Amino acid sequence: MSKALILNLQNITKVYTGLDAPILNKINIRLYQGENIAITGVSGSGKSTLLHLMAGLDIPSEGSVEINDQKLDTLNQSQLAAMRNKLIGFVYQAHHLLPDFTALENILMPLIIKGGNYKKAHNRALKMLKTLGLSKRAEHYPHQLSGGERQRVAVGRALIIEPQLILADEPTGNLDHKNAKLVFDMFLELANEFKSSIVLVTHDLELARKMKKIYHLAEGTINNK
Ligand SMILES: Nc1ncnc2c1ncn2[C@@H]1O[C@H](COP(=O)(O)OP(=O)(O)O)[C@@H](O)[C@H]1O
Ligand SMILES: [Mg+2]
Repeated sequence: MSKALILNLQNITKVYTGLDAPILNKINIRLYQGENIAITGVSGSGKSTLLHLMAGLDIPSEGSVEINDQKLDTLNQSQLAAMRNKLIGFVYQAHHLLPDFTALENILMPLIIKGGNYKKAHNRALKMLKTLGLSKRAEHYPHQLSGGERQRVAVGRALIIEPQLILADEPTGNLDHKNAKLVFDMFLELANEFKSSIVLVTHDLELARKMKKIYHLAEGTINNK
């Protein structure tokens, strides 16, 4: 049986007023279930814009984005939000953890938002903390954690819903090499366990090479390297 098409970008063009040329110009990308791709490109080449379009956080000037055969421009804001909560895990360069909530609560939050049994969710979050080597940090607040630990919590929060699709924008960009490797390996292991598809934006070719395909974004177009 052929694998399901998770993400389908067709002829995506994005124009920002004030910029001479479209930042993205007729981009086509297909991502199948369990497949991983990296997107590289210099700063300002449109990588984050592309990720935002994939999640319906921004609207293309032309072209269409489909997730699981559903065209995003047919969904209203609350349907889009529901789809993201259910299907997509985000990891950013900055952790964006909620400062007034513990590591455990931050990881638990997406499950609470999704709804369901609290006790089960709590147990899953505890298990996630254990997998991330953070059991002893469950009751700590973000400011009490190291940079690497915070980013591990951010990975846990993104992956706790076992997302079909993970959008990661320089997920280890703020970490030193040793911590970056540790966090990234945990991230990949969890993504594989959950059979999530990954779109990884990174400057780091060592990380990009761990993905099945590398796309290079330059002057609005994308090349498969
Ligand atoms: N909302 C916006 N309005 C206008 N220009 C924007 C907006 N967002 C990003 N840009 C511009 O689009 C270009 C690409 O930005 P971005 O997608 O963040 O690139 P990257 O993630 O590759 O560094 C940059 O020149 C940026 O200034
Ligand atoms: Mg960016």
